[in-house]
Amino acid sequence: MKALLISSSPHREESSTFLLAKEVLRALEEDGVSCEEIHLHGCKVFFCKSCETCHVKILKCPLTDDVAMILRKMLDADGIILASPNYINNVTASMKTLLDRSSHFIHCKRLLEKYVAGVVTSGSGFADMVLEYIGYYGRTCGAQYSGGVSAVRAFGQDKKEEAFRLGKKMAADMRTKRSYPEQMKVIEESRKHFARVMKLRKNEWLEEYQYWVEKGWL
Ligand SMILES: Cc1cc2nc3c(=O)[nH]c(=O)nc-3n(C[C@H](O)[C@H](O)[C@H](O)COP(=O)(O)O)c2cc1C
Repeated sequence: MKALLISSSPHREESSTFLLAKEVLRALEEDGVSCEEIHLHGCKVFFCKSCETCHVKILKCPLTDDVAMILRKMLDADGIILASPNYINNVTASMKTLLDRSSHFIHCKRLLEKYVAGVVTSGSGFADMVLEYIGYYGRTCGAQYSGGVSAVRAFGQDKKEEAFRLGKKMAADMRTKRSYPEQMKVIEESRKHFARVMKLRKNEWLEEYQYWVEKGWL
């Protein structure tokens, strides 16, 4: 099993968000999950131009940066940990820019059967909206949310332990292919919605439509 950590603090390895996320990875690794980390600050991630090329030809994009590589690693992982400091009650712009570039994952529910977890630090201790957003992102791409951990920047051992427990839970989710019925209901609703969208756009989003046909979802 593989897990991918995407961390979006500009402080990279020195960041408190990454420090907390490392505890999630430590638990995953202890349970035999092979982990990889990406620091978005250090990668080239350009803004989506909304050209829709990636819907016509799956994962093709005219922008030449590191996003294609990151999206492939996400597809290759069983678990994805999105770690971001709270920037005005949301993920950082760098994280949002990456997620915007993954709209094909939403259209084709490409993260189905995967698990997402969130790690957030903040100055004030307020992180609910950010974790909520990370959970929403996972589900809208088809992934179930194993949970999230958040802390004020200068956190103590208790928060590290909470992050470690989240890693253990995520490893168990992946190992047992756990199904959260409430989440699966939401994912299924979204799939039904996109079935209608796909039929409407079938002459434009050629490869995405073909993907749906091949999956037998239409
Ligand atoms: C642009 C910017 C916006 C921020 N917005 C918030 C905020 O809305 N609420 C909050 O509690 N902290 C906010 N912070 C503080 C960071 O979330 C906090 O310092 C965080 O722990 C930094 O994590 P890092 O060390 O991983 O970079 C903000 C910081 C920056 C630079």
